[in-house]
Amino acid sequence: MSRFTIRRTLLAVLAATAACASLPAFASKEKPVIGFSIDDLRVERWARDRDFFIAAAKDLGAEVSVQSADGDSAKQVAQIENLISKKVDALVIVPKDGPTLMNVLKEAKKAGIKIISYDRLIKSPDVDMYISFDNERVGMMQGEALMKALPKGNVYVMSGDPGDNNAKLFKAGAMKAMKANIDKGDIKILGEQAVQDWLPANALKIAENVLTQFNNKIDGFLAPNDGTAGGIIQALAGQKLAGKVPVTGQDAELAACKRIIAGTQTMTVYKSLKSIATESAKVAVALVKGQTPTQKTTEVDGVKSILLDPVVVTKANMDLLVKENFYTKEQLGL
Ligand code: BGC
Repeated sequence: MSRFTIRRTLLAVLAATAACASLPAFASKEKPVIGFSIDDLRVERWARDRDFFIAAAKDLGAEVSVQSADGDSAKQVAQIENLISKKVDALVIVPKDGPTLMNVLKEAKKAGIKIISYDRLIKSPDVDMYISFDNERVGMMQGEALMKALPKGNVYVMSGDPGDNNAKLFKAGAMKAMKANIDKGDIKILGEQAVQDWLPANALKIAENVLTQFNNKIDGFLAPNDGTAGGIIQALAGQKLAGKVPVTGQDAELAACKRIIAGTQTMTVYKSLKSIATESAKVAVALVKGQTPTQKTTEVDGVKSILLDPVVVTKANMDLLVKENFYTKEQLGL
């Protein structure tokens, strides 16, 4: 072998080593590698889910590779394909749009990868476990709070992104909670619209348009989450109505908690992100090791599920978030 060939061979070996170093550690049961595919890290809660998940996985000896699809379902498919080719042991997925993932999940299953549907249900036989909150209950909490703040009047209903299974559950729960008042004729539903991609800017536009359409005669807004509530409250502020019209929410985002304290938002729903992230990491690691997860399970649409409890937060029990270490007193200005 000439010196030249040796050098070329050496370079090739070095290049291959460098390429391997950029990949996650090769899948092994002692140090499982988990791919965490998130719809959209621009929404505050998902960044916190990510941080809690990485910390929990690390405690369990696992490594996490995170991908954000920025609200683009085609990008999410490509990112999951990439995680499969990197030979992750488990995939934990917050789907942008569950039905678009059917084929890529089949591929993952074939490759022996464990699949966890995180917070949002993917109705696929390839999903090993769904971990979320009781989402219909979340919607009921929103509807109940709106009825308490407003037993009578005109309500405008907004729901979350149509591709998100949770959006349907939140709305169903809220409508159930408002049904008696609607049937009595005390509450009139003026109209309903889905907020594409859950974007606050889209909720703002819808709220501005319907306030104009109904001559500001809207007595309450059902907002599916805190981000959309923020958009609606901005539109109300434009009409000097912020604080006069009840608006719901969920996620206990910091800005929303401050609005609740200031009186412009009626409520939010706290869902312990630390719990969902920790339980999901435990399930992922157990499944990879061939163990049966120890948590109590139920079944949702044929998928084995773990459902955690949501909690209503108003101005009256805001200190719960401090007790839960979700925020400090200083952050909330308490
Ligand atoms: C989650 C909510 C979140 C929304 C928008 C839903 O699936 O359950 O907590 O606000 O997506 O990201």
